[in-house]
Amino acid sequence: MSEIVDLGAYGTDFTRDPYPYYAKLRAQGPVHRARIPEVQDMWLVVGYEAVRSALTDPRLTKDLRNSGLYDAGAGDSPLFTHMLDSDPPHHTRLRKLVAREFTSRRVEALRPRVQQITDELLDAMLAAPDGRADLVEALAFPLPMTVICELIGVPDIDREDFRAWSNELVAPTAPEATQAATEAMTAYLVRLIEDKRQEPGEDLLSALIRTSDEDGDQLSRDELVGMAFLLLVAGHETTVSLLANGVRALLSHPDQLAALRADPSLLDNAVEEMLRYDGPVETSTFRFTSEPVEIGGTVIPARQPVLVVLASASRDPERFLAADDFDITREPRGHVAFGHGIHFCLGAPLARLEARIALRALLDRCPDLALDSDPDALNWRTGMLIRGPEQLPIRWTEPSA
Ligand code: HEM
Repeated sequence: MSEIVDLGAYGTDFTRDPYPYYAKLRAQGPVHRARIPEVQDMWLVVGYEAVRSALTDPRLTKDLRNSGLYDAGAGDSPLFTHMLDSDPPHHTRLRKLVAREFTSRRVEALRPRVQQITDELLDAMLAAPDGRADLVEALAFPLPMTVICELIGVPDIDREDFRAWSNELVAPTAPEATQAATEAMTAYLVRLIEDKRQEPGEDLLSALIRTSDEDGDQLSRDELVGMAFLLLVAGHETTVSLLANGVRALLSHPDQLAALRADPSLLDNAVEEMLRYDGPVETSTFRFTSEPVEIGGTVIPARQPVLVVLASASRDPERFLAADDFDITREPRGHVAFGHGIHFCLGAPLARLEARIALRALLDRCPDLALDSDPDALNWRTGMLIRGPEQLPIRWTEPSA
């Protein structure tokens, strides 16, 4: 049995820059036993091929209740029984009921509104008299948050509460706080769904309440709560870090920034490289072995939690040449920043649209955009799921001498 890798012992250095640690692990093998604070021992998959194979292996189940590790009563909230926590056939059914709303064509119709929100946020940001701002607060957070809330139909005035609960659920601070956020979020969504049932709007949640597929299938109340929760949280917690990590990478590689300014047609490729080089989702959500499963030459016993490290796979030199270089002209196809297999990100077209519009507008309106702090001295979000800085100080005029 291999040695247990204690990720907690790596400390804040690991949160700030996990890539050298993953490189070391990859060099030793694609699969490791590991430990993180507050979670029992588990398995970490770090090699590109092993990651792709784990994400398509049906013996790695998403439903905790199928894993044998299920503690009845612990995971029963409708918040945690959504499609990302389900296996086929339940997953297939849930995804089918909503997939048509997120196709590239449907999402493209949102372009004018995404552009308008971006422009308004940049107007407000650029009004700062000292030419400085925190990009996260000014653009990277409010853009995806506003877009997904408008899409789902969450009223303006509820968004601050929503942000606090969501942050707690994605990066928990204490069990009581997480419990309180779970209850508040559930109660809020139950009320919102009830309101929309009484008075439907033009939004996605109203459509989902009405929706049924050709067989007349409909979402139950709990399924609607889980769906609304997943879409709202996945729809903003991730894109904020795509923008923050992407802009950080670009501004700390002046040659790449200059190349993009010189040839704006590189933008779509640059966004893919940002996803590959420092994507917002460091690890997948947990999977559980339903039986002994061999991955990358290692047999993981039955009923074990498994974390698939997307950030490590996208830096695997076996798959990407000079994988640690940020190069917006490379062919980044095959990165796994949006996952792989049946749970491949449903919101990828929306995330790409938002990132492309936001980056183009930011670069156009700030010709001398620069980082306003040491990129190695940022505070990072805690936990291994979402990777991104808490703030990203930027400036857009030369500082006066
Ligand atoms: C850059 C932004 C984003 C990234 C990097 C990202 C990444 C991911 C990843 C890695 C997964 C799979 C997780 C796993 O297998 O454990 C996933 C699933 C998902 N994402 Fe995203 N996501 C982003 C934006 C969005 C947006 C804007 C939405 C909005 C609708 C969204 C909705 C979803 C949903 C619903 C799933 C679950 C799909 C399923 O279980 O079939 N994501 N995302």
